[in-house]
Amino acid sequence: MSNTIFLLPGDGIGPEAMGEVRKIIAHMNDTMGTGFILDEGLVGGCAYDAHGVAISEEDMAKAMAADAVLFGAVGGPKWDSVPYEVRPEAGLLRLRKDMQLFANLRPAICYPALASASSLKPELVEGLDILIVRELTGGVYFGEPKEIIDLGNGQKRGIDTQIYDTYEIERIAGVAFELARTRQNAVCSMEKRNVMKSGVLWNQVVTEVHKRTYSDVKLEHMLADAGGMQLVRAPKQFDVIVTDNLFGDMLSDVAAMLTGSLGMLPSASLGAPDATTGKRKALYEPVHGSAPDIAGKGIANPIAMIASFAMCLRYSFNMVAEAYRLEKAIATVLDKGIRTGDIMGEGCRQVGTSEMGDAILAEFVATS
Ligand code: NAI
Ligand code: MG
Repeated sequence: MSNTIFLLPGDGIGPEAMGEVRKIIAHMNDTMGTGFILDEGLVGGCAYDAHGVAISEEDMAKAMAADAVLFGAVGGPKWDSVPYEVRPEAGLLRLRKDMQLFANLRPAICYPALASASSLKPELVEGLDILIVRELTGGVYFGEPKEIIDLGNGQKRGIDTQIYDTYEIERIAGVAFELARTRQNAVCSMEKRNVMKSGVLWNQVVTEVHKRTYSDVKLEHMLADAGGMQLVRAPKQFDVIVTDNLFGDMLSDVAAMLTGSLGMLPSASLGAPDATTGKRKALYEPVHGSAPDIAGKGIANPIAMIASFAMCLRYSFNMVAEAYRLEKAIATVLDKGIRTGDIMGEGCRQVGTSEMGDAILAEFVATS
């Protein structure tokens, strides 16, 4: 079994956060025989500085060949005026497109120690563990026509087009149902079938996939606006939420804020299973950006990056127990009141990036 991981730390706090994941991987290789083989490349502004593009062809090829890609963050004011095609974000978009990462997984987990930092009452979020599965490569962000036309009468018309084909809905629904089986076995599908044709099709196809293959999973349908309301009213009613690109973008950001800081939020993006190996291409990244305001100071919160690596263990290497253990280590460190500045609370001890990483690794080691 191959265990190659391609690291793309990127810009700003990306490399600082990635450094803490390296420590964990080194420990696993030294003591658990995991045999992870690491390689590293450039993406974003640093790649632009080195090669004049947001990711080189050589690094793209390595990302395509790897079992998993760990991505830090890209961008920063230094590159605000570079040409649109080679701006730092273009590196991430290229990876998503070439690797065909159609399923974006955004967990919203509330660590008990941070329940009081939520924008909701602690009792509404304590123990919260939901997973939003967002379709990432279709829908209104990509549909054609997509343009602004001049109507010639002093008016212009902005056009975006929402398109979903059966196979796109089938494959994202399949991912959601599969994941639900490893969790609380419940999926809530969200669309706007009341006003959108693509929503009608979405609803039909999800229902069909459920009936055909996943009738053991509890399925519920909700209109996406009502779903947004329920998400902030009683979030614990959900297990897995599956939705399109646009609604998923918004709903996952809403869900994120139920659980506190940007520095805590991991994500995974998965592609289709390989026809021969069955293995999915996958990229794991924190939700946050390069945080130029704190970059280079050694104070960034590495938890989002570490939790992204936990997702990598779970979804790319089927190391489910280790993933839980790493997540438990994060929870324990928070329980002990060890905090980076962004999640600082009363009576807690403030630490920097590397101390936080060390504390999590120590808990991880302690439970092995
Ligand atoms: P950001 O996520 O980088 O930062 C927003 C705020 O949250 C900042 O005050 C930052 O200090 C704080 N923050 C973020 N992550 C943190 C962490 N791990 N620990 C402690 N504090 C943290 O978003 P912003 O400021 O809008 O964008 C900064 C740059 O990052 C821009 O160039 C943007 O284009 C890029 N960006 C890149 C993303 C990616 O690589 N996937 C995603 C979002 C933004
Ligand atoms: Mg967003």
